[in-house]
Amino acid sequence: MEREMLLLLARDVAQRAYCPYSHFRVGAAVVAGDQVYVGVNIEIASYGLTLCAERSALAAAISAGASPITHVAVACIDAPEEASIGERAPCGACRQWLADLAPAALIYIDGVAQDFRVPDLLPYAFSL
Ligand code: THU
Repeated sequence: MEREMLLLLARDVAQRAYCPYSHFRVGAAVVAGDQVYVGVNIEIASYGLTLCAERSALAAAISAGASPITHVAVACIDAPEEASIGERAPCGACRQWLADLAPAALIYIDGVAQDFRVPDLLPYAFSL
């Protein structure tokens, strides 16, 4: 699937984000083979239990038995137009999930022209 199509899916699914606390909607779409899996951020009253969109999509893909994950798109649809890369890129926890579950993936970030590989986002990722 093409970059723009995957980003479009990530933006679309972000509209289903459950984020009553931050009101910051995030969507993610991941490709494995000819399948696409999506996820949104899900916030819980105990804030620390919040699940990010990237981990939500990765969990959906892994739960479906999909592998390897080749592409990941992330869209923060409430980020202001002038938001920096750091305000749109996966958080630290999601980077570790990506390192474990999608180590060879190409990562697209909505609103960012540059594409990334996992080591660009998380050099020296922890591994077992
Ligand atoms: N969020 C994500 O979904 N992905 C990230 O990589 C960073 C943050 C979510 C978590 C929370 O629901 C909201 O964005 C604000 O932090």
